[in-house]
Amino acid sequence: MENHVKEILFTKEEIDTMVLQIGKQIAKDYKGKDLMLICVLKGANVFMSDLMKAIDIPVEIDFISASSYGHSTVSSGVVKFLKDTDSSVEDKHVILVEDLVDTGLTLNYLLKNFRNRDAASVEACTLLDKPERRTVDVDVKYKGFNIPDEFIVGYGIDYAEKYRNLPYIATLKPEVYAD
Ligand code: PRP
Repeated sequence: MENHVKEILFTKEEIDTMVLQIGKQIAKDYKGKDLMLICVLKGANVFMSDLMKAIDIPVEIDFISASSYGHSTVSSGVVKFLKDTDSSVEDKHVILVEDLVDTGLTLNYLLKNFRNRDAASVEACTLLDKPERRTVDVDVKYKGFNIPDEFIVGYGIDYAEKYRNLPYIATLKPEVYAD
């Protein structure tokens, strides 16, 4: 797997530092509030696992599945809502946890959807942001790293469902896509 990697953009240590920083900020902002982190599967599951450990206040977790890409590398613009939360978000302070905001279509859809429920508040957190790719304005309260418009993998993010288990974030060699 490692021999498919072109360049490591963020090491495990750099990611850990960023996740701790975001977690501390969230704990400070939501102290005394009913916080619910909602992980947007599948990509955000690694980030979510580390992030919740970095938040030093009580937190409830849940998972949703909404995909706009399928197996393609190009956004279809269609958001498929495949799995909803198990618990209600009523009166909870919700943070939607994403690995990556690209066009913004997925998060824009999800923020609108959750803001139409009876949550106390709904915000978003993403580890990675590709601002150059944005096609819709989406407000993201917590952001980790900005990245260039390149296809990346690792730390939960896939190419054709592989490479999610790399502990760092990297670009792949072009020949990998040619296979
Ligand atoms: C990725 C990512 C976001 C979305 C961002 O998910 O996790 O949910 O794409 O793209 P957008 O800003 O252009 O909408 P993907 O659909 O690849 O599913 P996955 O997390 O299951 O890999």
